[in-house]
Amino acid sequence: MNRTDRITPFMVMDILKQARRKREVIHLEIGEPDLEPPPKAVEALEKAIKERKYFYTPSLGLEELRERIALFYREKYNVDVSPERIAVTPGTSGAFLVAYSVLLEAGERIAIADPSYPCYKNFAYLLNVEPEFIPVSEETNYEIRADMLTGKKVKAVHISSPSNPTGTLYSENSLKELADFCDKEGIYLISDEIYHGLVYEEREHTALEFSDKAIVVNGFSKAFCMPGFRIGWLILPPELVRKAEIVIQNVFISAPTLSQYAAVEAFDWKYLKKVKDTFARRRSLIYNGLKRLFHIVKPKGAFYLWIDVSSYTKNSTDFAFKILKEALVAVTPGEDFGKNRTDRFIRIAYTRPEKELKEGIKRIKDFLEKAR
Ligand SMILES: Cc1ncc(COP(=O)(O)O)c(C=O)c1O
Repeated sequence: MNRTDRITPFMVMDILKQARRKREVIHLEIGEPDLEPPPKAVEALEKAIKERKYFYTPSLGLEELRERIALFYREKYNVDVSPERIAVTPGTSGAFLVAYSVLLEAGERIAIADPSYPCYKNFAYLLNVEPEFIPVSEETNYEIRADMLTGKKVKAVHISSPSNPTGTLYSENSLKELADFCDKEGIYLISDEIYHGLVYEEREHTALEFSDKAIVVNGFSKAFCMPGFRIGWLILPPELVRKAEIVIQNVFISAPTLSQYAAVEAFDWKYLKKVKDTFARRRSLIYNGLKRLFHIVKPKGAFYLWIDVSSYTKNSTDFAFKILKEALVAVTPGEDFGKNRTDRFIRIAYTRPEKELKEGIKRIKDFLEKAR
């Protein structure tokens, strides 16, 4: 099969296309924050424009941004990361492409949870790398556990915690065990930490607390509310940095310069706390509103609910399109995230104001009543 033929379409975009035709639809399908970026980041962006910062930056990123990110690891996790190990990328999407390119040869295998963020496998397909899907479920907190990898000939494992689509968080112990296993077996652990900062009761842990060899990816699209700025970062073991730099030089030259200046000022903890509190309130509202209707694992982070709709339907994609048509609520079919019992699930994103979430809950309730 042609390489690009293996890349799956993103069904949520079809839902979005249909949903946008109707003005009165409540949008619970989109995985991007509706809140404003930190005002200091916007001011820094305006200042960068006034100062005509229109040049490329070094390929690994602006020195001051790499230093600010290193400081973030010291402040938040008490982990020392040299700025020299940090590469700034166009979103975490750019970071995945760079990481896969430097870690994996064509034909090598990467373990990816099923369900998980759909683009991981598609990056693998683009590079002729083979995804090894690891079925995960509520019984094991949707984590990839070390014993699930035994006997699998994988060169890397890619996790996300908190997870899209489930909102579950690796426990400190599970993350440590997985990191130890990967170190022992010589497997690269890629940890997508883009939803850090949106963890509601517990403290999140970076994989770097447990292994210097872990490859950590994070960015400004979620907790920082800056998805359109297209800035992410990648932390690599020192021996891989030069390889990453060469890939970035050729594929991107550098991440967007104006956005990098904005990102330096985005670590405004007072503002970011308000963002997190807003999502925490929304999570309680929507979880409490829907938990009597469906089986839902209470999410610990991100802004998603992974909802088991199997008591109402055998096909959650049909169900999603039906909710859109009849209840005017857009949700994402589970099938977007893999093949492992995903026809039983839909994903809801609470990236809309509380008033709309309340209306969405009401419409879903009415829809289920009518369908009875
Ligand atoms: C788990 C996860 N990782 C990465 C991304 C990509 O984010 P970006 O490229 O904007 O950094 C997303 C976006 O939805 C995501 O859910």
